[in-house]
Amino acid sequence: MTVTKKSIHGEWSSRFAFVLAATGSAVGLGNIWKFPYITGEHGGGAFVFVYLLCVLLIGIPIMIAETMLGRRGRQSPINTMQTLAEEAGAGVNWHYLGWMGVIAGFLILSYYSVIAGWASAYVFKSLTGSFSADAMQVKALFDDFIASPLQLIFWHTLFMGATMFVVARGVQGGLEKAVRFLMPSLFVLLILMVGYAMSSGAYQQGLSFLFNPDFSKIDAASVLTAMGHAFFTLSLGMGAIMVYGSYLPKEVSISKTVFIIAGADTAVALLAGIAIFPIVFANNLEPSAGPGLIFQTLPIAFGSMGGGLIFGTLFFVLLVFAALSSSISLIEPAVAWLVENRGLSREQSCVWAGLVTWLLGLVTVFSFNIGADVKIFGHTMFNLLDYLTANLMLPIGGFFVAVFAGWIMQQRHSEDELQMHPPAAYKLWRFLVCYISPAAVFLVFLNVVGVL
Ligand code: PHE
Repeated sequence: MTVTKKSIHGEWSSRFAFVLAATGSAVGLGNIWKFPYITGEHGGGAFVFVYLLCVLLIGIPIMIAETMLGRRGRQSPINTMQTLAEEAGAGVNWHYLGWMGVIAGFLILSYYSVIAGWASAYVFKSLTGSFSADAMQVKALFDDFIASPLQLIFWHTLFMGATMFVVARGVQGGLEKAVRFLMPSLFVLLILMVGYAMSSGAYQQGLSFLFNPDFSKIDAASVLTAMGHAFFTLSLGMGAIMVYGSYLPKEVSISKTVFIIAGADTAVALLAGIAIFPIVFANNLEPSAGPGLIFQTLPIAFGSMGGGLIFGTLFFVLLVFAALSSSISLIEPAVAWLVENRGLSREQSCVWAGLVTWLLGLVTVFSFNIGADVKIFGHTMFNLLDYLTANLMLPIGGFFVAVFAGWIMQQRHSEDELQMHPPAAYKLWRFLVCYISPAAVFLVFLNVVGVL
């Protein structure tokens, strides 16, 4: 069977285009919204340390594997897994890995879009001068906002609409153009925020919270969250990177590219942490404030700095675009499959996928207000969705990607696809993906259920 044809959905115009798109997928709310608040909830440095370790030992090898599978299969993750399993003479069940990814994508996007809606609303709150130097006022602004289901639905609808619009325009028209200028600008603005944080008085305290590990502060649940976040932030385990890999031209070096993407993603998360925690401590806020953390801290900075109105607006605009370049990759596996298997046009596929996600999103909207008391095992619906996807589905998906790439796919195929130099690099990757990454995921799970 020949699996080296081009994808029917198109191809990236260059390696740079892929780097931008994949970085666009990786860098998003996960780095700027989620990383700081879960770091705050899990006590800081030790959590950050475990997260970095997971990125290195689990995330990067699996990202290389997932990109490689995509490029070799050249289709939606569901069909890619089926084709590659046939090529390897393996069982017929591997396409279920693709299915789990599609479902995870819907579930993640359903809440991702709601939070991206918050960021969109904050663009206008900044523009209209609602930010202030007073922490209490900023908190009240946030609390009032999320208490209103109608407002949340409005912004969620707008964000989903934008996502569907970009995805409908396809690989080169929509996805590529959307990220070309936005990623670098976001980076520059974050550095500016770090500059502000340095002058805010609690810079040392913020840094030491982030980088001084106190291992007594973490437990099995923290380790699972850190590992889950490594998958979430690198967009792994649900087919996003696989489908982007399927649009990657054959001559591009996958491993080098992955290092650039993972490096940029980690840098953005750390910068966000360095910008936010000094503000938290300087204003006597709680690091463990939860999903509202950045919305309750950054507006204080914008409310008190010179030119804060402009910088605040720009920051949230860029955050929305960073979220948009991630959300399009969350839905792309489903859209690619609908086009391949259901004979729908890209536009029709987008409408259907978008409608389903939008409806699911209402669960998250209500879990912050009228449904806040609906709890299962003591968790809100939003928490459960987040836990189910980031802590369970993505690591399980990643585990099987590693197993497939390391154990099922023929070695000569992965060698041929990766073309790593020196040969020792390939050996190291193979060792990680065969043994270390799957074993690490497995041990973390065992640890959580209390077997270890
Ligand atoms: N990596 C994205 C972020 O950090 C979220 C994402 C997860 C995107 C999984 C695609 C797949 O915001």
